[in-house]
Amino acid sequence: MNKNLDRLQPYPFEKLADLLANSRPDETKRPIKWSIGEPAHPAPEFVKRVLIENLDGLSKYPVTIGSIELREAISTWLTTRFALPAGAIDPDKNVLPVSGTREALFSFAQSVVNGADEAVVVMPNPFYQIYEGAAYMADCDPYFVNLNADNQFQPDFKSIPPSVWMRCQLVYVCSPSNPTGACLSMEKWHELLTIAGKNDFVIASDECYSEIYFNEGEPPIGLLEAANEFGLSDFKNCVVFHSLSKRSNLPGLRSGFVAGDARILDKYRLYRTYHGCALPPPTQKASAAAWQDEEHVRENRAIYRRKFDAVLEILQPCMDIYRPQAGFYLWPSVPIDDASFTRRLYEEENLLVLPGSYISRTVDGVNPGVKRLRMALVAPYEECVEGAERLAAFVKRLAV
Ligand SMILES: Cc1ncc(COP(=O)(O)O)c(C=O)c1O
Repeated sequence: MNKNLDRLQPYPFEKLADLLANSRPDETKRPIKWSIGEPAHPAPEFVKRVLIENLDGLSKYPVTIGSIELREAISTWLTTRFALPAGAIDPDKNVLPVSGTREALFSFAQSVVNGADEAVVVMPNPFYQIYEGAAYMADCDPYFVNLNADNQFQPDFKSIPPSVWMRCQLVYVCSPSNPTGACLSMEKWHELLTIAGKNDFVIASDECYSEIYFNEGEPPIGLLEAANEFGLSDFKNCVVFHSLSKRSNLPGLRSGFVAGDARILDKYRLYRTYHGCALPPPTQKASAAAWQDEEHVRENRAIYRRKFDAVLEILQPCMDIYRPQAGFYLWPSVPIDDASFTRRLYEEENLLVLPGSYISRTVDGVNPGVKRLRMALVAPYEECVEGAERLAAFVKRLAV
């Protein structure tokens, strides 16, 4: 067996199942699930229609690089969304469709990291678990950068010692962050790009929550936008990951893309011809339609905005909770151990959340997920409001 498999940690939801194995919820209350970040708003009807209309495509093997129609739709979307110069994104060279970003984020590490030379992969803490597993399976060590309230959950790149940067071959950034909701500012991006220029590592920017934000006039800044402003017109060492899962409520379609540095994408495409699963032709047609429409994305944001407004109005008076810049998670701190809080909340209120420490690691004795919860506001409005009322009641009982 590959020895690195022993380094993989159980998935957070396995840990949650173990935590609750002997618990019984109060069944007089309907179950409310805020633990998993699975979008629950309806998938757009027009996308479903395009999918059905193109089922004949199932009789063909798709190619790894995807159809030109899809790559053009993605290029146009990227160029408009991130204010890139016309022609900056060549659909033949700078874009690669993938079957959801999860598997791409994972396999990407294996194609850019050379496991020799004590390589490290820098990543945020708390984090999306795939980054950590990707580093281990690429035969190197993760280096965690803690995200704390003291620094507005921004990674402090300047705190990383030069000896780590010298060994660094890949940095995962999650902006907007799962779970903190923080987005990298232009200044932060430039700070990272400056360090990358000196140390020659690749930046993998996971931007799958970039289209869920609260102020229509302030969309999160993406890495390609920052790189372009920084003067990297060829996006050297910069690669972004985007998904239709959250943006368009299509987690089951398994559709996303990787874009950026043409040199890296060329090699990554080659690697994917061995291991990657090309998108089925009907999926490609449906995806092209989804990337070409913004109306459903604006409507989606409006639904989240209404839920966050209502939930925060209920919770802010009774707990330490802030409004995220983007994404659909809340990341409050709680007065007791996060796992005990989660278990009692489930037993007493039939409301399921994820303990913060299940998606973070202890570094130098500090674990930034301890005494925090991750709560995904994916359920319908009424259910979110009811969940917030139950959580508020629970917190008030805890306090007496
Ligand atoms: C931070 C982050 N990145 C990537 C993904 C993967 O999304 P998908 O594979 O559906 O594109 C998720 C899914 O929850 C996520 O939270």
